Amino acid sequence: MNHLILRQEGAVRFYAPDPEKYGNIYSAPVFYNPAMERNRTLSVLVLRSFGTGLTVCEPLSGSGVRGLRYAVESGSVGRLILNDVSKEAVAVIKKNLELNGVDADVYNEDANVLLHRLKSACDVVDVDPFGSPAPFLHAAFRALREEGLLCATATDTAVLVGRYPRKCLRRYGSVVRKTPFYIELGLRNLLGYIARVAASEDFYIQPLLSYWERHYFRICVYSVKGARDADDVFRHIGHVMYHRKERRVAQFPSQHTSGPLWVGPLGDPLFIHRMSTFDRYSEFLQLLELEYSVHAPWFYRLPEFAVDGKSPTLREALAMLKEAGIYATATHMASDGIKTEEGYGEVRRVLAGAT
Ligand SMILES: C[S@@+](CC[C@H](N)C(=O)[O-])C[C@H]1O[C@@H](n2cnc3c(N)ncnc32)[C@H](O)[C@@H]1O
Repeated sequence: MNHLILRQEGAVRFYAPDPEKYGNIYSAPVFYNPAMERNRTLSVLVLRSFGTGLTVCEPLSGSGVRGLRYAVESGSVGRLILNDVSKEAVAVIKKNLELNGVDADVYNEDANVLLHRLKSACDVVDVDPFGSPAPFLHAAFRALREEGLLCATATDTAVLVGRYPRKCLRRYGSVVRKTPFYIELGLRNLLGYIARVAASEDFYIQPLLSYWERHYFRICVYSVKGARDADDVFRHIGHVMYHRKERRVAQFPSQHTSGPLWVGPLGDPLFIHRMSTFDRYSEFLQLLELEYSVHAPWFYRLPEFAVDGKSPTLREALAMLKEAGIYATATHMASDGIKTEEGYGEVRRVLAGAT
């Protein structure tokens, strides 16, 4: 392939299409998006904290940079399996593996065909598609061993937060209504869908990391096979009611609810703590660790507590809630957001003193 340039991300040097020659990353014959660097770096940390000697499959590899970074930086990869349906991508993957002296099994197949063939052979499957991971999730769980890690990226954020209701219903089987905390509902929508697919494949999931960044949702879930445990998934599936600024979890859908969604923990604070000692994203990870310890599937926005058009600053609000003995934290999902298990009325009463 012509028009390749040498790039660097993390500890890996690799060839990718020259963006100057193609105008934008979507027109290039092989896909590489530098804006996904945080996604890849955090995933290296997830693998590092997850185990060693892992069989890792990335069935939608693009340039191969993700799998390469896992092999070179995590110290956790025993066997690496890369794949892309594009012949050009596979040629670039092979070139990049050679450049970094990394061994991998490389395939040029449809991801679902490969994953079905790999049946129960993988410790980690990372689904990183264009748009929605939904078409690959059943096959991804089939490729996992009895105990494994399923990672997925979704860039169809507008669908997941409910901006296209019919598509959301079609693709994820869910309804997401308008709320001030729509980003969290989008993340929980994806997690809920993954949990239901997992259950249908007899897997129970436990989220280790899930977060939002401007143009995508990312999820890494510990997955354990067993029909009895899989039944338990439904303890964490529910509906979120939002009406007149009040929020609550509901078992059944109604006019003001969004669902079905994952209403359990978004991640594992201890796992995140282990990850956060490593890297430059430690501040972001520390925030996630705090958020994951709040067991309420929503957040509040400060303007919801405005009096005469004036609302407290985030710092003021957190300090006042702390003073009142209410646990609350900032959220990575909105700069004016606070997560707390306290009800709207009580938070409003406490914050009224700020304005
Ligand atoms: C978003 S890119 C992957 C980026 C890569 N994971 C990274 O981190 O840089 C998605 C890739 O999936 C490939 N692809 C699309 N549909 C596929 C399919 N059905 N089977 C295998 N590969 C597919 C595309 O050619 C593209 O390279």
